[in-house]
Formats: sequence, C-alpha cells, structure tokens
Amino acid sequence: MTVHFVGAGPGAADLLTLRGRDIIASCRVCLYAGSLVPAAILSHCPPGAKIVNTAPLDLDAIIREIAAAHESGEDVARLHSGDLSVWSAMGEQIRRLRAVGIPYTVTPGVPSFAAAAAALGSELTLPGVAQSVVLTRTAGRASSMPDDETLAAFGSTGATLAIHLSIQNLARVTADLIPYYGADCPVAVVWRASWPDERILRGTLSTIESRLPAGIERTALIMVGSALGDTAFSESRLYAPDYDRRYRPQSAESPWAEWSERDE
Ligand SMILES: C[S@@+](CC[C@H](N)C(=O)[O-])C[C@H]1O[C@@H](n2cnc3c(N)ncnc32)[C@H](O)[C@@H]1O
Repeated sequence: MTVHFVGAGPGAADLLTLRGRDIIASCRVCLYAGSLVPAAILSHCPPGAKIVNTAPLDLDAIIREIAAAHESGEDVARLHSGDLSVWSAMGEQIRRLRAVGIPYTVTPGVPSFAAAAAALGSELTLPGVAQSVVLTRTAGRASSMPDDETLAAFGSTGATLAIHLSIQNLARVTADLIPYYGADCPVAVVWRASWPDERILRGTLSTIESRLPAGIERTALIMVGSALGDTAFSESRLYAPDYDRRYRPQSAESPWAEWSERDE
C-alpha cells in the first residue's frame, strides 16, 4: 500500500499530468482537498472508489483515513491543488507517514503561478528586466510569516512577485511595494486561473485596488513586476545569430565545433 501525493493543477481538469491521471485511476481511495481541487479531476477515479473531501477534516482525521486504507491494503491518491511543493500541507502529512512507516510517492502538478502567467501570456523572466520569480504570500489568520520574509525584502530585489493567499490584503501589498517598484509598476490579479470563469484584472500598484470588482476573493494571485507590462527588454543571447554555442558553433575554430561533431 502506498500514498500517492498528486499535484492536481490549478483548476482546469486537463491541466493534470498523465502520470497523475494514471495514479488516480489506479487507486481505490482518493482523498482530495475539496476547497480547490475541481470535481472534474475525480472523474479519473475508478468506479466504486472511496472518495473523501478532506476540506472539513483536521490532520488527525486525514491520517486516520490513510491508516484505514493502509490496514485494508488500498493505495491512496492524495490530491492537492497546483503543485505540491508550495502551500500544500504535504510536509506535515509526510512527517506523520514516515513516523508510522507508510510509504508514499510525490507527483508534481502545474502550479497556479504558472497558470496565471499563461493566462497573462507573459514570461516572468525577461532579459534585463527580471531574472527571478518570488513565490510568496502575506501573513494570514492561520499562518504567520518568518520575520525576514517581507514584501519589502523581496521588493528590494525588483524580482517578479507571485503573491499567493493575499488578495484580502491587496491594500497592504500595494502600500508595501510602491516604495520599491514605484506607483506605476504593472500589477495583474488573476482569479481562478485556468477555470472556466477565470478573470484577469490589470493595473498598476496605485490603481489595482480601486479596480478590483466585488467577488474577487480567495483563489487569486497578485502578480507584480515590470515583466508584466510593455517594458522594453533585450532579446536573449541564446538565439542571437552570432552567439557561439555548443549546438550552433559559429566557425570551425569555435571551441564548440568539436562538441558539435561528437553530438552528431
Ligand atoms: C493553498 S495555496 C495552494 C497553492 C498551490 N499548491 C499551487 O501550486 O499553486 C492557495 C493559493 O494559491 C493561489 N491559487 C491556487 N489556484 C489558483 C488559481 N487557479 N488561480 C489563481 N490563484 C490560485 C491563490 O493565491 C490561493 O490563495
């Protein structure tokens, strides 16, 4: 018996990996985080599977469900939204499983920040503009932030920010970031990226809050940075015609010529 943690993606039922789909189809028990995992993903469960929405359960109750499946020798598909590497609560479940010797696997999923960038049609790392993306959040009712992980600290780098779990703090987010990015810095709020009712709201750090319509809450990302606007940026050297590289040596004298021949 194995617990298979599967990243169920940002919402669209077809933004699930083939591996994730096959794992779900092979497990007689499926535990899913019902607040964000779309019901359509559950259609991959085999007929007669036990399907449990864990949204109303606490950690002890979730582990009890897993332990019961373990006793009856049933594999478990454990679904969380997006990818499992960020804000999935997988870490605390794995710690419990390790303590009692229940094996597990981890299958990544499409994270919501990638779905939001796709919805915006944006590359978040434009040459000469931003070469880092910070996935962060602000403090919430259930979670505080480590002292040094402030928006000011990340903002001082000028990186593109993907701010999760924070739409209710939009006023605070913009106030904290204006000193670093400037009032005109492009901002996009992407609500329910990849869902059929996805909404995109664009503005700047000074305008976005007043443009936020009612009803945009919870499942939204605040994307901030110059890479989201019409900022001028250079083309990457990688595809420059004169760029000497292993796969495109510029002359017989190129240090890469020998590698190129070897690769043929
Ligand atoms: C508990 S975290 C889960 C993050 C998830 N593990 C991931 O990889 O994106 C939930 C937050 O992720 C963001 N989020 C998740 N799905 C989203 C979506 N489809 N569109 C926009 N934001 C989303 C929102 O900021 C939401 O408050």
